[in-house]
Amino acid sequence: MAEQHQGKAVQTTGHAWDGDLQEFNNPLPRWWLWSFYATVLFAVIYWIWYPAWPVAKSFTKGIGTVTYQSGGKQVTTHWNTRAELIEEMQTGSETLKQQAYLEKISAASYDDIVNDPDMMAFTRSMAKVLFADNCAACHGVGGTPAQIGQYPNLRDDAWLWGGDINQIEQTILQGRNGYMPAFGEVLSDAQLDEVANYVLSLSGHSVDTAMADAGRAIFQGKQGGCYYCHTESGKGMASQGSANLTDAVWTVADVPGAADDAARVEVVKTVIRNGVHRQMPAWRGRLSNAQIKLLTVYLQSLGS
Ligand code: HEC
Ligand code: HEC
Repeated sequence: MAEQHQGKAVQTTGHAWDGDLQEFNNPLPRWWLWSFYATVLFAVIYWIWYPAWPVAKSFTKGIGTVTYQSGGKQVTTHWNTRAELIEEMQTGSETLKQQAYLEKISAASYDDIVNDPDMMAFTRSMAKVLFADNCAACHGVGGTPAQIGQYPNLRDDAWLWGGDINQIEQTILQGRNGYMPAFGEVLSDAQLDEVANYVLSLSGHSVDTAMADAGRAIFQGKQGGCYYCHTESGKGMASQGSANLTDAVWTVADVPGAADDAARVEVVKTVIRNGVHRQMPAWRGRLSNAQIKLLTVYLQSLGS
């Protein structure tokens, strides 16, 4: 390989195509050569450090490692992006800040949290994520369910099981069993009509007053025994999770979605005929106490 000098004839490789088409034999430019050597060196270091070559059913693991916590133990593996992400999530500056806040919240009383704007802001942002991951499948994003009847709305200030901090915490910790027996076997169709009229009268709907009067006797008497769970006033009991029948909020019977008086009677009647059985799962053990605390404060602030 001869050097090409300015002015001298350029060497060729000696091959000729199509009679006179020749190939110059120029040396490679220095910058190009050095870049090339640098990439070779880079590749070798890369192979040594990172997983690189397929070998049989496995691959060369490289000497780089990542260490992270798993199940209370320290785990060291060969370098890989998954482990690196786990490590980052455990030791990143954001994570450490979150852990410090979580510890602060675990130690704080509910009053302290609610009265501290910083802790509240943190609570809201963490609880939103927890809610989306664990609760939204049933309760809907932001706490508003799509459909009356399936799951209670957690956004309004009407609570089946009570809306103060301790009651909400108990609901999440131990779960709730919303149960009302079916009255289809106990009451005749006419009686169901009557009691449905009475129930609607409690929340100020226009009803057939004669029917509602007959319904009151069923509701407040032995035959229906509705007062036993809903109380005589119809306001319900937090200890039973029995709905307040006197307000404009409906959690099982889709009264707001019914077109007219007859349709309203029908939806209420259907609930009384079929009863209700809804289960809120318990989260004790599945979420940490600190997480349940965050969710409790968040839901309480949504409701009020
Ligand atoms: C599998 C579905 C499901 C999931 C998941 C679920 N819930 Fe519920 N939740 C229910 C049902 C059903 C009820 C109504 C129980 C009843 O009828 O009394 C309920 C009731 C509640 C209530 C009581 C509302 C009231 O009016 O008193 C709260 C509070 C609540 N859920 C919070 C949560 C939180 C927080 C999560 C997530 C950690 C969650 N739920 C996850 C189904 C679910
Ligand atoms: C054993 C207790 C119990 C008895 C008895 C009972 N209920 Fe209920 N009722 C409940 C509970 C609990 C709920 C709420 C269920 C839920 O949301 O999970 C409910 C819900 C309702 C609803 C739906 C309210 C809404 O917001 O959508 C109506 C209507 C109703 N009851 C009417 C009656 C009538 C009428 C009777 C008597 C014939 C009666 N209940 C007897 C426990 C009872």
